[in-house]
Amino acid sequence: MSFRTVATVDELVDDTPLACDVTDELTVAIVRQQGDLYAIEDECSHGKVALSEGDVYGCSIECYLHGSSFDLRTGAPLNPPATQPVRVFPVRLSGDDIQVDPDNPLSF
Ligand code: FES
Repeated sequence: MSFRTVATVDELVDDTPLACDVTDELTVAIVRQQGDLYAIEDECSHGKVALSEGDVYGCSIECYLHGSSFDLRTGAPLNPPATQPVRVFPVRLSGDDIQVDPDNPLSF
């Protein structure tokens, strides 16, 4: 595990994605929804646009371009046109810091 601080909790607004660079190659959208934190790769698997530009509905995030939604817990696509999942990562609070582990994407 190699958690890295990507933001602080005061930067978050409930149900509003926050784009955070984790490494040079990885940006995630952090979402706080009903008190739980999620970190989903900030790139739609369909058209490679930022998921953080979309809206959160319940425990899913909707791509603004063609409307596919992805489960924030698993990264699974919930409706077409996307058919491939998006990676999701462990995320935790450490004090006021939001930390993501880029080395251990969750698998379902
Ligand atoms: S680019 Fe996201 S659904 Fe097409």
